[in-house]
Amino acid sequence: LAGARSADVPFLKRSTQGVPMAERVIDVATTPFAGQKPGTSGLRKTVTVFRQPHYLENFVQAVFDVLEGLEGQTLVVGGDGRYFNQEAIQIILRMAAANGVARVLVGRDGLLSTPAASCVIRAHGAFGGLILSASHNPGGPEGDFGIKYNIGNGGPAPERLTEAMYQRSQVLSRYRILDTDTPVDLSREGDRVLGGMRVTVIDPVADYAALMEQLFDFKAIAGLFARGFTLCFDAMHAVTGPYAHALLEDRLGAPRGTVINGTPLPDFGGGHPDPNLTYAPELAALMFGPNAPDFGAASDGDGDRNMILGRGAFVTPSDSLAVLLAHAEHLPGYRGRVTGVARSMPTSRAADRVAEALGLPCFETPTGWKFFGTLLDAKLATFCGEESFGTGSDHVREKDGLWAVLAWLNILAATGSSVADVLREHWARFGRTFYTRHDHEGVDKDAAEALIADLRGPSLVGQTFAGRTVVLHDDFAYTDPVDGSTTQAQGIRLQTDDGARLVVRLSGTGTQGATLRLYLERFEADPAKHGLDAQEALADLVLATRDLLRLRERFGSEKPTVIT
Ligand code: G6P
Ligand code: ZN
Repeated sequence: LAGARSADVPFLKRSTQGVPMAERVIDVATTPFAGQKPGTSGLRKTVTVFRQPHYLENFVQAVFDVLEGLEGQTLVVGGDGRYFNQEAIQIILRMAAANGVARVLVGRDGLLSTPAASCVIRAHGAFGGLILSASHNPGGPEGDFGIKYNIGNGGPAPERLTEAMYQRSQVLSRYRILDTDTPVDLSREGDRVLGGMRVTVIDPVADYAALMEQLFDFKAIAGLFARGFTLCFDAMHAVTGPYAHALLEDRLGAPRGTVINGTPLPDFGGGHPDPNLTYAPELAALMFGPNAPDFGAASDGDGDRNMILGRGAFVTPSDSLAVLLAHAEHLPGYRGRVTGVARSMPTSRAADRVAEALGLPCFETPTGWKFFGTLLDAKLATFCGEESFGTGSDHVREKDGLWAVLAWLNILAATGSSVADVLREHWARFGRTFYTRHDHEGVDKDAAEALIADLRGPSLVGQTFAGRTVVLHDDFAYTDPVDGSTTQAQGIRLQTDDGARLVVRLSGTGTQGATLRLYLERFEADPAKHGLDAQEALADLVLATRDLLRLRERFGSEKPTVIT
């Protein structure tokens, strides 16, 4: 860390000649803002909301107020580089100093991807960290901003903590800040002083890259590139650019130009930094076109999501999790130490089949990465994944986009197979779980809630659905096997006798009206049928679902707005 020892920083000692401006702590009177309630991924609002005077300050003070024992501790701060990132960090630094934090580690230029922030918190034994991001939501003056607190294990704050932050935000009457306008220089690595606090500007990539080198066979991956293997990684003008340049091009030897859109921009170049076939059209067109490279991948605004593509092949996140689990023995950091796998409920059951074959437990959790935390801490699960383009492991406590890309590269290097072949071989061995998600965005909220309420009605078990017999119909509830906490009403599950499944839930992250998500899957053991297109393979289930839910009658249309 740039040779940073506290002894090198003489100006940390307080002047006895009166208190200089930059060290004067002031209490600013304020009044609460309604709705400062962190959701699954922190407090996420438009930039215009965040730029109201005192808005960010109030929330940060609420966070600091509920963190017992914060004084004298080290925090990690960084964000995805979106508009308002740097200003927000300067405010947070002045408030951290005023609230008695001893040291803050902040990524150069205020950058830290979400998984890298989790890594830095863990690697430095920090008390916790503040991550500035609105993930895959668009950025810019008209875009979104967000802030979330992660605890010492590197994972998102649990609900009791975020609830306490919210409660505190609704009653506070002052916040504490250093009385200075001079920004801390974040453009160079090294130590600075702010009031009585040390600010250490760190290379945002170093700790993360070191961790990746422990987990994966870099020599084998470098060999792949040396033999002319081609990759296109789309950083979507978001935070993974510097990480991908450093890891894929500098360390692994992929040629320059492998990483596209690799410079983080405050508005992500006007794009929607969400790695899927709809929002990464340039990459999708390339991978399904005549000049496709061997491998294609993309990550989102803050670097925790991933999309994996081969030449003419799209890997569903559900299959990706299953493939990683099946090939864990090829990954040096996981060889011989995989204890189990966890997936969110709507994620397909492809991983369950691998777990069963390997004699490993498979956990089904509610949607949201935070539900994996206790399982990872207790070493009950090693890998985890969600259908919403999230894959990860116990190496950090966030999902990790670039990690998934490196894991796939490691598997391709070890097997010598193409992405399409890895998939084909996987399905031949474990069977294929055809899977699709149909989203109906911006539908009427009351109508959507009425639909869910209806599905909580009389049981459909024993009835016919798409020519099959329903064997399970419930509203998913979860009891955490580690801490015993329970979570109710997480989505409707309908399973049939031949292994098909329909899941219906409302998005917890949508902003306009409601977003209805329909998740469909069916199992196919016959390799002769594995080449089918997923939409074709699931067509009868889609039609039956539209009828069962009476979509046209309820919403005026039965066509989804997005299909993944
Ligand atoms: C965020 C969380 C994910 C979760 C997703 C669900 O991205 O980080 O863990 O899977 O939201 O979103 P939804 O809109 O389906 O509630
Ligand atoms: Zn994200």
